[in-house]
Amino acid sequence: MSPRRDVVHDNGAVFEPRINTNSGFIDTYDAQLDTALRPGDLDEFIGQEEMKSQLRVVLGAARNRNETPDHLLFAGPPGLGKTSLAFIVAREMGVGTRVTSGPALGRVGDLAAVLADLKEGDILFIDEIHRLPKPVEELLYVAMEDFRLDVIIGKGPGARTLRLEIPRFTLVGATTRAGMVSAPLRDRFGYQYRLNYYRDDDLELILRRSASLLGVELLEDAARQVASRSRGTPRLANRLLRRVRDFADVNHRSVVDLQVAREALSLFGVDELGLDVVDLQILRVLCVQYPGRPVGLSSLSVSVHEDAGTLEEVYEPFLIQRGLLVRTPRGRVATERAYEHLGLESVGTLPL
Ligand SMILES: Nc1ncnc2c1ncn2[C@@H]1O[C@H](COP(=O)(O)OP(=O)(O)O)[C@@H](O)[C@H]1O
Ligand SMILES: [Mg+2]
Repeated sequence: MSPRRDVVHDNGAVFEPRINTNSGFIDTYDAQLDTALRPGDLDEFIGQEEMKSQLRVVLGAARNRNETPDHLLFAGPPGLGKTSLAFIVAREMGVGTRVTSGPALGRVGDLAAVLADLKEGDILFIDEIHRLPKPVEELLYVAMEDFRLDVIIGKGPGARTLRLEIPRFTLVGATTRAGMVSAPLRDRFGYQYRLNYYRDDDLELILRRSASLLGVELLEDAARQVASRSRGTPRLANRLLRRVRDFADVNHRSVVDLQVAREALSLFGVDELGLDVVDLQILRVLCVQYPGRPVGLSSLSVSVHEDAGTLEEVYEPFLIQRGLLVRTPRGRVATERAYEHLGLESVGTLPL
């Protein structure tokens, strides 16, 4: 990961050179903003009603029985609230949280150290859990199932297994790539949920909450405008809000109305539907390179230089949700709306 290089202007204002929604990691600025605006409990967590009602039951039942809740797995594209949910679960259960990630647990010893340090009832949050090396994953199976840690000491014929009891804990796993979580690991989670992109009305509520936390007066139609360009993603909505606030400040506007929002978003080159570079590339391949023809996932992947799994689990769900792309048995096809958005003449709908 290279450090973020901001363009610092003479007046001291800092602008991001480009807004990238799917970089897959959080830069320093985002991390600070995420923490400041993170919903504290389930009531503050906006949208995703189905998941919230289910989670309330899972957590409530565990609380009544005085047990630790089942292990929980949250899957879905970046910025939809997975990390927030891990902290919310800890808060709802009144327990502590340990935070780590797949890439940080490269060796068995790394996981053993984390597990040995847990306290009764703690939440262990493992982000990007699909990136655990196999031996680490196998150690985790036993820990999740039997709350036990088998450590092999020594090598060859003299090797012994040391069995350690560990406190009961709840593992909260997060992944942007559900398809890459192995079946044995997935099966050990008692509750799993796949988060989907947010509806614009939920994003609007998130923006209004964030605006009040940041002390920004954001009018309703301005909130709607920012929401519609936020790519269904709360993290991006908050980031755009910050850009809009910068713009309002610099232009001495104390209130963010529709006009301020529009001008700010167009200054920062934010697409009207919130599409990012890869989204647009996908649509161009479908509409320009293969107009009217269904395109297979692998050809699409080669054309846009993006791994097929990421296309399928991160990009396509958004394009489908926004009615820009459909999956057919023979491949992906752009809709009329996609042609319209690119300012192209549609070649007509194919018989599907
Ligand atoms: N349901 C939600 N309600 C309110 N804010 C949210 C919600 N989901 C995400 N956010 C905002 O987006 C930010 C990013 O969410 P995060 O949990 O870090 O996403 P992920 O871990 O899935 O990438 C949070 O800090 C919070 O400000
Ligand atoms: Mg996260």
